[in-house]
Amino acid sequence: MKMNAEENVLRSGVMANTDRHACREAVSFGPFTLFPEERRLERSGSFVPLGSRALDILIALVQHAGQVVDRRMLMSRAWRNIVVDESNLRVNIAGLRKALGDGEGGVRYVKNVPGIGYCFVGQLTRERVVVESSFQCAKPSALAHSGCFATGAACPQGRDEVLRTLASDLGRHRLMSIVGPGGIGKTTVAIALAKRLSGVFPSEIHLADLSEVADGDTVALTLARLLGLGDFHDMPVTCIANYLSTRRALIILDNCEHVIDEVTSLTTQILAVSSATYFVLTSREALRVRYEYVCRLSALDVPPGPEAISIEHAHTYPAVQVFIQRALEAGARFPQTSKSYAAIAKICRELEGVALAIEFAAARVATFGLAGTMALLGTRSRLQWQGCRNAPARHRSLEASIGWSYALLSEQERSAFRRLSSFEQPATLEAVLAAVANGTGDLSNAIAVIEGLVAKHMLQVQLGEDDLPRYRLPVSERIYAREQLKQTTLDKRSVVQLNGVQGIFI
Ligand SMILES: Nc1ncnc2c1ncn2[C@@H]1O[C@H](COP(=O)(O)OP(=O)(O)OP(=O)(O)O)[C@@H](O)[C@H]1O
Ligand SMILES: [Mg+2]
Repeated sequence: MKMNAEENVLRSGVMANTDRHACREAVSFGPFTLFPEERRLERSGSFVPLGSRALDILIALVQHAGQVVDRRMLMSRAWRNIVVDESNLRVNIAGLRKALGDGEGGVRYVKNVPGIGYCFVGQLTRERVVVESSFQCAKPSALAHSGCFATGAACPQGRDEVLRTLASDLGRHRLMSIVGPGGIGKTTVAIALAKRLSGVFPSEIHLADLSEVADGDTVALTLARLLGLGDFHDMPVTCIANYLSTRRALIILDNCEHVIDEVTSLTTQILAVSSATYFVLTSREALRVRYEYVCRLSALDVPPGPEAISIEHAHTYPAVQVFIQRALEAGARFPQTSKSYAAIAKICRELEGVALAIEFAAARVATFGLAGTMALLGTRSRLQWQGCRNAPARHRSLEASIGWSYALLSEQERSAFRRLSSFEQPATLEAVLAAVANGTGDLSNAIAVIEGLVAKHMLQVQLGEDDLPRYRLPVSERIYAREQLKQTTLDKRSVVQLNGVQGIFI
């Protein structure tokens, strides 16, 4: 069995009991080895994350290597009984080519035969190798704790590299936080990571969604129940610690930001007594504790603007892939022209690669078209676009998503956040400090407020050309902050009118 370095690190100690072996076909081309029965692709021994449809397509092409495979045949292999638009096939072929580095250094694997289909043109060798049959998935009993495992993609768009890094680093860090603003894709990455590591923690991967936990005191109880330990109202932490002290387990605590103190206390206590428990947290804010390894998740890559972009090239950007997939799922159809793709690229750029915002915009295309959707982006209606009916409340609109973070700010942070909406361009520290201090002259407090907003991912910081920091609210947050500012002004005005005093306070 070929294994990569990170899996080796993590597997040491868990693989001792695995003696289930099987003979499987391995097809090698260039640095790649495909295990069709395992549905697994490796590059020089390292796992290559590929979406399940791209994998279906690759397996079909490799099976018929050297022959042209009809597009309809490929679509029926990848989508079985679902009728989908052909652009889905193109998106997946583009993703596959990107994963294979097709065309780099003149090496070709997948050739387009216009009007007919695709052909695998790489040199292949086929052999039978011994693999561990326990590698593929964790025991269903452990994964079944969360329906998310069933629905989350194993290889979400544009996250190959971060998944590889996280899987590799988890061997050295037992407390890992995936942090970033709302809707950027933290939960999606955590679930994909769990799937990727399911062979490494064969029976103990648990995912607790804490978004519904309103009371911090019930965090430990929620985890105890998830582990099947029952209702130990008095001492859930002790029970969990005892249970985990002898087990190698991966615990994912999803959406921690509103119960961050309780999560800090729980994870610290458990890590102190268990040497083989690993925690992956997702949160809009890091725990800020010793030994925490923080992964700041960036937005999905978007095409750079404003120059024109070819359809093929646009398809290689994960933000565009997510947009097209969601638009088609929502029943939208648009012409396959460079004009359409320029509009899609612009929408993705305007939404700054935030996956949730891209999903909302994509779902508007069936009603407003690409041009109409783009025109609406500048208005506050973008905050109110409705998401999936069955999504968590926080994901029903951008307003709800940003509102969730806004509610977790301190009063001073909220007031500063509202005031910062007046900056259209990235601002210097001096300008931001002046706005936050608001004439009080209390700079040390203003610095703490700025730090808080940055830590909670409500204010972005980037280096300017002069290597000095610049601060800005992301566009959706700025629209939200402006609305809040208007509302606060109106509220204060009515209070003032009630008291019969003149003036407006912000
Ligand atoms: N890489 C991706 N590929 C495809 N879809 C994605 C990707 N990342 C996120 N999404 C989609 O975007 C939406 C938001 O993602 P997710 O729930 O992971 O965000 P989050 O950062 O955990 O948000 P929150 O802070 O509210 O918990 C989901 O519907 C998810 O399916
Ligand atoms: Mg989440």
